[in-house]
Amino acid sequence: MKWKNKLAGQPIWEGPISFRDKKEKVAEHVSRFVRDGDIIGIGSGSTSFLALKKIAERAAGERWNVLAIPTSKEAEMNCNYYGLTTTSLLNARPDWGFDGADEVDSHNRLIKGRGGALFAEKLVMASSPKTYILVDESKLVGHLGEKFAVPLEVDSRSIHIVEAALKDMGIDQVDLRMAVAKDGPVITEAGNVIMDAWFPTISNNLEKELSAIPGVIESGLFIGYSVEILTV
Ligand code: 5RP
Repeated sequence: MKWKNKLAGQPIWEGPISFRDKKEKVAEHVSRFVRDGDIIGIGSGSTSFLALKKIAERAAGERWNVLAIPTSKEAEMNCNYYGLTTTSLLNARPDWGFDGADEVDSHNRLIKGRGGALFAEKLVMASSPKTYILVDESKLVGHLGEKFAVPLEVDSRSIHIVEAALKDMGIDQVDLRMAVAKDGPVITEAGNVIMDAWFPTISNNLEKELSAIPGVIESGLFIGYSVEILTV
């Protein structure tokens, strides 16, 4: 078979990465925290991709055994490509983890999920005693929700329930996230859809309120997790 784009044996992340120099720096920074025997939660997105690459290079150079718990298929494939052995939350817990974010406020509250991996990202972060959040300064915001909607991973049968619940909360700007080709909705790895809801203000209770809506699997709001923000 002749491939138009050669995929086999190549890392999954292709194409340009915004703010690449800054993301490389913060990726380099987190790679210094790796020790032999660490079990590490591996985030998704371009910054996490650069970090996992640097961590894999360091572990290989030092001949260290490092186990990775990836937060997406994409991260898993990249771990395999760069030689990091993977496991899952079924078998292990992270000693620490790293991930990117779309927005970070001054109270370390996060919006994540532009890449659609928010469900697994939250499971891994909730299982980890500490997660380094790797962001360039464009992600630091004065108020959460300034640039990004809050993504909700939703069972598709409950779209109407979620829409009505959000309306009751006074939110009527809600978008069903569409595939880039606009030929249908984005379907997550868990088989759900994503609804992007725009909130003018985000209270500390909002994450729990959203989780209580029937059909909401998880939200991209991360409030009160054990995170340390690494930025350049
Ligand atoms: C994916 C995420 C990413 O961590 C977030 O979108 C940041 O991505 P990037 O590092 O490419 O800017 O939450 O679900």
